[in-house]
Amino acid sequence: MIQVRSLHKSFGAQVALDNLSFDVDAGESFGLLGPVGAGKTTALHLLAGLLAPDSGEITIDDAPDPTRPATRRHIGIATQALTLYEDLTAEQNARFFGRLYGISGAKLDQHASWALEFVGLGERRGELVRSFSGGMARRLNLACALVHNPPVLLLDEPMAGIDAQSRALLLENFRHLKAHGRTIIYASHEFGDAEALCDRVALLAEGRIIALDTVEDLVAGYGGPAQVTVEFASPPVDMPADMPGDVEGATWRFFSEDPLAYLSQLSAEGMAFASVRVDAPGLHSVFQSLTGRGQGG
Ligand SMILES: Nc1ncnc2c1ncn2[C@@H]1O[C@H](COP(=O)(O)OP(=O)(O)O)[C@@H](O)[C@H]1O
Ligand SMILES: [Mg+2]
Repeated sequence: MIQVRSLHKSFGAQVALDNLSFDVDAGESFGLLGPVGAGKTTALHLLAGLLAPDSGEITIDDAPDPTRPATRRHIGIATQALTLYEDLTAEQNARFFGRLYGISGAKLDQHASWALEFVGLGERRGELVRSFSGGMARRLNLACALVHNPPVLLLDEPMAGIDAQSRALLLENFRHLKAHGRTIIYASHEFGDAEALCDRVALLAEGRIIALDTVEDLVAGYGGPAQVTVEFASPPVDMPADMPGDVEGATWRFFSEDPLAYLSQLSAEGMAFASVRVDAPGLHSVFQSLTGRGQGG
């Protein structure tokens, strides 16, 4: 569905993207994850045809060069910086973006209503965007990206600046879009939601892809051991010397690929646990082990 080949983009001396290549299949949810400044927004702006690359090629739905209007119609983008008109109503915004992408008449009426209902703003359609919370504005930004019913959806930090209720609604929206075959690229410096949603993710650092795979395989390959926190029923008196980690009072912390082995050994020796918590490695650990630093931002 999407082919990206050897994209380069600089802003003056600042290299934003350095030889970016990847493919996204039809119906796939693809994460573009990395710290602030990694080049995610630049990549999405190139994919949406809002910027032209210095070199390299993008094909979307077999159409070349998204700076061409005919190619751009295949794409909806919910930008990181909200592109909404505060002095227009939600509905006027949705209709404006629909017309921008070449739809009109009954189709525009129908699609605008659907998009507003979809993001849970059907009843607020007549209200000015100026009065909207951050979460409502984010949801309207998504509706505006969907009005022309594009097969490809680009989401740039789609959870930025929102409340818990809007986050839950948006997660539901993304799951629905994914289930109905929409191709999604999800760019964020926050890994959690993308981790749950995306079939594959590319980790981006300083304009380059440093890893690209399913979340499962990335974590299995680079995630390292799980972090385990055990609360004993009472401070252990004779902890076996071959146990990993540190004991402080009744709390034992250690890292292990196989925590159950240690826990069952202690349990067999008659030690009682009040609680056991296993923090499995995630994309954060993968990013850390590949770059030697946190994901920042
Ligand atoms: N219009 C611009 N002018 C100058 N530098 C830019 C511009 N847009 C992005 N950059 C720079 O390109 C790099 C990548 O930025 P961006 O794509 O916004 O990253 P991300 O979305 O991952 O935070 C950063 O160093 C940023 O400062
Ligand atoms: Mg960005």
